[in-house]
Amino acid sequence: MEYIRWSKELSVGVKALDADHKTLIAIINQLCDEVARGNQDVALGEIFSRLMTFTETHFGREEALMLSIDYPDLEAHCRQHRGFVRHLEDLHGRHRDGDLFAALELFDFLNKWLIAHIIECDFGYRPYLEEPEEPSQVPEPESALNAFLVEDGAPSWV
Ligand SMILES: [Fe+2]
Ligand SMILES: [Fe+2]
Repeated sequence: MEYIRWSKELSVGVKALDADHKTLIAIINQLCDEVARGNQDVALGEIFSRLMTFTETHFGREEALMLSIDYPDLEAHCRQHRGFVRHLEDLHGRHRDGDLFAALELFDFLNKWLIAHIIECDFGYRPYLEEPEEPSQVPEPESALNAFLVEDGAPSWV
C-alpha cells in the first residue's frame, strides 16, 4: 500500500536524485506494510539493511553533486545526512536486540524526516543547478509510487 507518495512538487531538479527519493519512499511504504502485517523479524531486518545501503548510496550521490556545483551549504547538509545515518543505525541495533518498537519508530522517523529533508534541505541546492531536469522524466522505482502522504491509507498508529 502507498502510505507516502512522491509528486513532482518534490522534484529537486536532478532525475537521478528524484529517482532515489522515489525509491526511498518505496522502501518506507514496504516497511509500513510489514509493520502493519505484524512482521517483526526477517522482512523488517531486510528492509533495515536495504534502507541503510540505499541511503548511503543516495547521500553519496547527492553530496557529490553538491560538491560539483560548489554548493555553499554542503557542510551543514552533510551533517544532516550523518545525523540521519546515526539515528538509523541506532534503530537498527535496537531492532536486532529485539526491541519491538524500533520498527514503529523507524516508520515514524522516516515518514517525518524524508519529506521534511527534501523540502528544507535538498531544495537548497536546486537554484544552483545550471539546468534543472524535468520531473516528468524521472523513472519509477520497481513498485511504481507517486505524491505526498495518502492519508486514508495510513494505519491508525501513525
Ligand atoms: Fe539531502
Ligand atoms: Fe536527498
